[in-house]
Amino acid sequence: MKLYEFTKSYQLFEEAQQYVPNGIYGPRTPTFLTFGSYPAFIHRGEGCRIWDVDGNEYIDYMCSFGTNLLGLKHPKIDAAAKKQWENADCFTLPSDLWLPLAKKIVGTIDNVDWCVFGKNGSDVTSYAITLARIFTGKMDILLAAGSYHGSHFWCQPHGQGVPDEWKTHIHYFEYNNADDFKRVLTEHQGTVAGVMLTPHRHDAMRDQELPAKEFVETVNTLAAKEGFMVIIDDVRCGFRLELAGSAKHYGFNADIQCFGKAMANGYAISVAAARKELKDAAKNIFFTGTHFFSGVPFAAALACIDEIKASGAIEYIRKSGTTLMEGLKQAAQAHGLQVSITGPPAMPYMTFADDPLFEINRFFCGQAARRGIFFHPHHNWFVCAAMTESDIQKTIDVASVCFKLTKEKIGG
Ligand SMILES: Cc1ncc(COP(=O)(O)O)c(C=O)c1O
Repeated sequence: MKLYEFTKSYQLFEEAQQYVPNGIYGPRTPTFLTFGSYPAFIHRGEGCRIWDVDGNEYIDYMCSFGTNLLGLKHPKIDAAAKKQWENADCFTLPSDLWLPLAKKIVGTIDNVDWCVFGKNGSDVTSYAITLARIFTGKMDILLAAGSYHGSHFWCQPHGQGVPDEWKTHIHYFEYNNADDFKRVLTEHQGTVAGVMLTPHRHDAMRDQELPAKEFVETVNTLAAKEGFMVIIDDVRCGFRLELAGSAKHYGFNADIQCFGKAMANGYAISVAAARKELKDAAKNIFFTGTHFFSGVPFAAALACIDEIKASGAIEYIRKSGTTLMEGLKQAAQAHGLQVSITGPPAMPYMTFADDPLFEINRFFCGQAARRGIFFHPHHNWFVCAAMTESDIQKTIDVASVCFKLTKEKIGG
């Protein structure tokens, strides 16, 4: 097989550095991948496939970092979006899909009575901590160290230029460690407004961890006893594990739940939803954005939620992901490599044994990318409903070739 070349991608990336700091910023930069073995710019996509600016085709296991759930250019979602687009997108006031979507969210997500809409996940995670603070009259927010909740000042992981004061009331504990959670709670006894948790641990550059039963029970019990809010950040997992939300899936008694990414199959919209007791407090929050009200994503979200349900996409993705995980495990073993494949099948991640700096992973994923399989060496992957059995099989076949090359490279 001829290996992919990225001539145009890297020419454009080079040129982009003149006009944009670092050319591309955030986790989309090729420097967060295996530099030189991945494209920098994508030209088009369809279903589970993307084509880069050099014309190379990939089965995309990043699914646009999670937004692509049903397949790019999904005919039903795009038809709904187009119908709204024909009426125009951005109005002076919200479109008439505002109320239908609010009703749909409340009718779909477990244990919520109302919701608000934003554009990005960060909008609604910031909203959620503000709501918890107003409702409880307290300021402290507990986060698991290493969990990602967005790019806003209170939670961004490594940006410079952010005053320490933004994080004054943020305190950290170890995910899944009930004792450490109790420790941080005791240290801030009486001042905790809420804990924000991803439904399971899906931090970059580490194996994923499902929430331990004891941890879930500890969070639920202490929240009920102490009166702090349980905020589930379902931005990445939402609509992939269970339609009613990942809080229900894993048994968290969530007070506030945040969604984004997959809820409109790639159209820009996010939502925070909560139970009725918090609604009066919510009336005091200043929350807005020029594009929060644009109608097209609302149409896409309505169609997307209906289609996830009607098509059985969540179960299909679970099965495809299970086949993928099993196939990769066997292929790695066949080449004498020890890998750890973790997380729910809808969003697996693979690491190699004895690879603390992810060099082996970068080599493997780079080889896969040059053969048309877009994995990520540092971030969990996503499975989408447009992946067929033969796409999964092709992926395993390519991975097998790449495991062989990896074994040759590391020796042993
Ligand atoms: C768990 C989680 N929360 C919040 C966010 C922030 O979402 P956005 O990038 O849409 O602001 C992300 C984005 O990756 C995420 O994965």
